[in-house]
Amino acid sequence: MCGIVAACANRPIADILLNGLQALEYRGYDSAGIALQTDKGLQRIRTPGKISALRQLWQANPIQGECGIAHTRWATHGVPNTANAHPHLSGSKIALVHNGIIENHAALRAELSAAGYQFESETDTEVMVHLIDQLEQQHGDLFSALKAACKRFEGAFAIAVTSSREPGTVVGARRGSPLVMGLGRDDAEHFLASDVHALLPETRRFIYLEEGDMVKIRASEYLLTDSEGTEVSRAIKISQIDAEAFDKGPYAHFMLKEIYEQPAAVAETLEGRVYAGQILANIFGVGADEMLARVENIHIIACGTSYYAGMVARYQIEELAGLPCTTEIASEYRYRKPVVPANTLFVTISQSGETLDTLSALRHAKQAGYLATMAICNVPESSLVRESELVLMTRAGPEIGVASTKAFTTQLAALQLLTLRLAAINGMPGKEYQDRVQELEQLPGLLASALELDSEIQQLAAEFADKQHALYLGRGDHFPIALEGALKLKEISYIHAEAYPAGELKHGPLALVDENMPVVAVAPNDSLLQKLVSNIAEVKARGGRMIVIADKDAVASLAADHGEVVQVETGGSLVAPIVLTIPMQLLAYHVALLKGTEIDQPRNLAKSVTVE
Ligand code: M6R
Repeated sequence: MCGIVAACANRPIADILLNGLQALEYRGYDSAGIALQTDKGLQRIRTPGKISALRQLWQANPIQGECGIAHTRWATHGVPNTANAHPHLSGSKIALVHNGIIENHAALRAELSAAGYQFESETDTEVMVHLIDQLEQQHGDLFSALKAACKRFEGAFAIAVTSSREPGTVVGARRGSPLVMGLGRDDAEHFLASDVHALLPETRRFIYLEEGDMVKIRASEYLLTDSEGTEVSRAIKISQIDAEAFDKGPYAHFMLKEIYEQPAAVAETLEGRVYAGQILANIFGVGADEMLARVENIHIIACGTSYYAGMVARYQIEELAGLPCTTEIASEYRYRKPVVPANTLFVTISQSGETLDTLSALRHAKQAGYLATMAICNVPESSLVRESELVLMTRAGPEIGVASTKAFTTQLAALQLLTLRLAAINGMPGKEYQDRVQELEQLPGLLASALELDSEIQQLAAEFADKQHALYLGRGDHFPIALEGALKLKEISYIHAEAYPAGELKHGPLALVDENMPVVAVAPNDSLLQKLVSNIAEVKARGGRMIVIADKDAVASLAADHGEVVQVETGGSLVAPIVLTIPMQLLAYHVALLKGTEIDQPRNLAKSVTVE
């Protein structure tokens, strides 16, 4: 998704901006640009494509200055071309970069056109720079113009603006999209960015802007206000992010590195939370255990892969804790009027904690009478964490590949902590509880064993490389694992993949099956195995090419002609969905590798989806 970097310092900053944009590449983008205040006035370079292309343009025309803004754009309004790339200018004096969507852009465009402003792009963003230009001339200073303009914008935004009428100054604001301020060397340089990763080579000291906050930075000072313009003070946080997380090391792709990090990431997620068959008290926050004792219902809300983690939890919470649980897609939930039964816990799941649909769902839920809100999230300083009452961090470490891998398995591990805590409160016998927690403690070792299947799965990938479509099947809490397997394949290999509950096959999708249709089934050794075996037979009878990812104890139930079987040691019913995810991830990875697609940054996708 779009990225912002801005800097004011007493040294040339073009490299800081370009390196910052490079660090944000993982978020996904399709054009990029920078604008600097130079001794020749405001100068700008923009291009569709990669940061490397922007760098080449800059090397041909190395504009320099000590104050400027930069952007990676992920197209929403208007195709990815130079005219639509940010920064946008109004005349020659003022430049702006924007993440988010301005919903009333058409009305503002009409108003500003009538006032004589010429539009050069198809974007919703360009209205912002013209409006701020108009207001700067009325109010006499950039910060007042920003404050007045923010009152006119409808929608979500994080912006950074610089004006050559105020040399050495950048102003910014956030509403709905994240923005952070970095404090640089000797407090004599200040930065803005949409994501701390952009600034880690320059600083570890950050102030996270809160909803509605506005900021003015100069090299040696800053001003931070709330949406009304009242000066506020916000805590300075020291980022603990490990620089190695941004290095692929010996791996060809971040996605592969992150797949291999899963045993350690899950171990880290369980660390200090489970011990000797027990889940420790209050791991969801102070007083959480008393609150959990009052929970009678659960609503889980998330998007994409995080939603699939929530779907697995729904099956397991209902089965093990005996509590009604629903899981819903955030973009649907946020626009409906939910009927909330008494004592319902609202749970959001998100890797980034900045997914706008999930955040908006949380804000919507706060008006709806829930018992409490809980976030399961991977980014400690994210908006979702800050706005939730209870939190369980997943501790996966930074996930750079757009396709979620270690975020998913750590979310599942965290959700199983919640499930077992609720199960214990709601009468799961002590011995069973202890056995289940011990199952969870075995998980890192089981994931490490599953990774040993890598070369076997690599061989199977060849089956897919020339295919246009694939089907994935699962039942019960493994149906969401089939969904996740299909999502991984389509995201990074661009093969059309659909997942179905295996029992649904004969109600329609079976018509698609022939010898050109690879079908992947997830086969745990559970009470639904025989049903799944019958569904596999239905595919084989139509000439379909089966690949079965099976618990090793389920293999005996499969017929000899049931296709290729990958045998996995899953360690028990609770953790089986997590372990069986690993072969799905590896399969998608190797198919994409054969197809030569851009694995870490698939086309059209963004890592953190901060627009609707
Ligand atoms: O950061 P979040 O977990 O809220 O992101 C939700 C989805 O955008 C994300 O899981 C997406 O589906 C991934 N690309 C899946 O690999």
